[in-house]
Amino acid sequence: MKLLIPGGAGYIGSHMVRYAQEHGHEVVVLDDFSAGHEWAVKDCESLRVNLLDQDKLSQLLKGRHFDGVIHFAAKSLVGESVKKPDLYYRNNVVGTLNLVNEMLNNDVNNLVFSSTAAIFGNPVTDKIAEDHPKNPINPYGQSKRMVEQILADCDRAYGLRSICLRYFNAAGASDDATLGEDWRFSQNLIPHVMKAVLGHSPALQVFGNDFPTPDGTGIRDYIHVEDLARAHVAALDYLSAGNESITCNVGTGHGTSVLEIIAATERISGKKVPHEIVARRPGDPSQCYADAGLITEKFDWSPQRNLDDIISSAYAWHSSHPQGHDS
Ligand code: UD1
Repeated sequence: MKLLIPGGAGYIGSHMVRYAQEHGHEVVVLDDFSAGHEWAVKDCESLRVNLLDQDKLSQLLKGRHFDGVIHFAAKSLVGESVKKPDLYYRNNVVGTLNLVNEMLNNDVNNLVFSSTAAIFGNPVTDKIAEDHPKNPINPYGQSKRMVEQILADCDRAYGLRSICLRYFNAAGASDDATLGEDWRFSQNLIPHVMKAVLGHSPALQVFGNDFPTPDGTGIRDYIHVEDLARAHVAALDYLSAGNESITCNVGTGHGTSVLEIIAATERISGKKVPHEIVARRPGDPSQCYADAGLITEKFDWSPQRNLDDIISSAYAWHSSHPQGHDS
């Protein structure tokens, strides 16, 4: 397939690009390189454009046909979205509207969209299925929720078929430790654990140990970024086979606590993770993990990597890339 990948230079996008290429697909990346890195997409055609620049986007894509689009281009920091909601709605919602417009102009009908478990807001059940109530508690989650709605409406109106993949906690790095997350920009747990164990930061702050969980710390569903990449190709295959639009959770179905992440890191690295217990982070649910039954049923997809794979790949990547792709 010939694939257009907006946001392909970012953390998840760059793994996606490489996975697609390794599996025989031709890839064109669109990225403004605000958070992505040219190095990460050096082996494919990449076009520098921000999705808000409709004229340039239109010019670059004019007359080009793609079998499918995998759309990662978005702002994705929850805290920043609360401080700058307009930035998030403009980038994530208007940017996607512009992309959809160009897809329709160029007769491209299949889209896989990066959605998020953040659209569920505070979980009312520990295990989250697709029909769990959607009450996002921050503009990041809200912007993704809006795009899901826009895509459903565009399917009804124009026959634009889409699959929204709601990621749980993407983590880990490539097996060869050449692609991974940049702890300078990420606010997620695992890069912070790696920073602490490698001595690049003071103690890791554990946000609360008084949650109603077995060890008192927060439980999340960590999904290896390579498994996530594989889920996107499975989704496109599903659309290419003529199936209907659908929304799926992408997680492992298993929860892991913060202390379990620390213990696994200590076992794999052979080093202590300096850490201290601090107050809960506002808005953090106690536990949140996916019911991953639908994606398994529809795409015959299930994770092939476990928590040790996540931690060992992240450790190898961060050890060799303390400055991310600039290292
Ligand atoms: C949330 C969003 C997710 C988004 C991510 C981006 C939900 C359900 N999920 O993930 O979609 O991509 O934010 O930031 O809203 N923790 C610590 N110390 C740290 C960092 C984290 O103890 O320094 C703990 C948190 O309290 C939590 C767990 O580690 O229990 C995971 O946190 P994090 O990696 O930030 O992800 P979420 O908050 O689950």
